Amino acid sequence: MPSQNPGGFSPLTRTPGPRALPPGPSAGIIRAPFREAAARASTFQFPPPKYPLSYPKTAIISDLHGNIPALETAIADARQRGVKRFACCGDVVGYGAQPREALDIVRRLCVVGASYEDGEPLEDGLCLKGNHEEALLTSPEDFNPKARAAIEWTHHEITHGGGKEAGASYWDFLGELKPTLCDDVAMFAHGSPREPVREYMLPRDIHDTAKMAANFAAMERDVCFVGHSHVAAVYYEDGRLYTPIGTEGPYALSTGPGRRAIVNVGSVGQPRDGDPRLSYAIFDGETIQFVRLDYDFVTASDRIKAVPALPDYLAERLHVGR
Ligand SMILES: [Fe+2]
Repeated sequence: MPSQNPGGFSPLTRTPGPRALPPGPSAGIIRAPFREAAARASTFQFPPPKYPLSYPKTAIISDLHGNIPALETAIADARQRGVKRFACCGDVVGYGAQPREALDIVRRLCVVGASYEDGEPLEDGLCLKGNHEEALLTSPEDFNPKARAAIEWTHHEITHGGGKEAGASYWDFLGELKPTLCDDVAMFAHGSPREPVREYMLPRDIHDTAKMAANFAAMERDVCFVGHSHVAAVYYEDGRLYTPIGTEGPYALSTGPGRRAIVNVGSVGQPRDGDPRLSYAIFDGETIQFVRLDYDFVTASDRIKAVPALPDYLAERLHVGR
């Protein structure tokens, strides 16, 4: 168990390995279609059918920001770890040099009927609207000048970079993105449960009891996965904080009354905690694993520098994770 933690302790419990779910509907991790089947079975007093009670091993990725070297590295790693579903917490585009390619990947991986690139089927994925998607769809007027320059270039690139038909399909996809989504176990948002597109959650917020209480009041599940701040952290309802520093876990999330958690998975495409390695997380319905990986940030950085409209600062920050 890691000991370096600004929270002063490790609230997460390390588990020895994958644990089997308890049999029967009381496992609490039954996906919606099976819940109806369970109700029918009890009505007719038949022996309970054997349901596939497992939550799909899900990679939660966020803040890809058009960084294809990072995204491809994360996906390959997730596949090697047996991931069967992808959930993206938004900011697919913005800052990076390959917004269309990032959208192409997410439209295959994080949708209903998802699959890996070679056609291997995945469970239905999901993708949320980040503040960069919202800025594209509305206005980047509240962005700083560098982020605004990137949004303006990204808008043009999406519209014209792949031709008229491709441009229209990108805008159709962006227009369909929702600010929050839930499955049977988890809620997903870009920023925070109460302000899903724009509010940042940072480790210092654990001391802001009003902000934390308002966010836990907005939770629709015992766990909510977010991104946006580009800093991985677990915020517990009882005031504890855990900040992972590397590839760690799996940890039992230990949610439930008084122990609900908001989990920031960090950023794939632009980490900001001083560590340039990409960040994402894997959740199996009970346990969570944090993943930090080296990737070719020099190539990602060079691709940004090759676009005159994108500020060099956006390239340089990938080298230092800021
Ligand atoms: Fe972001």
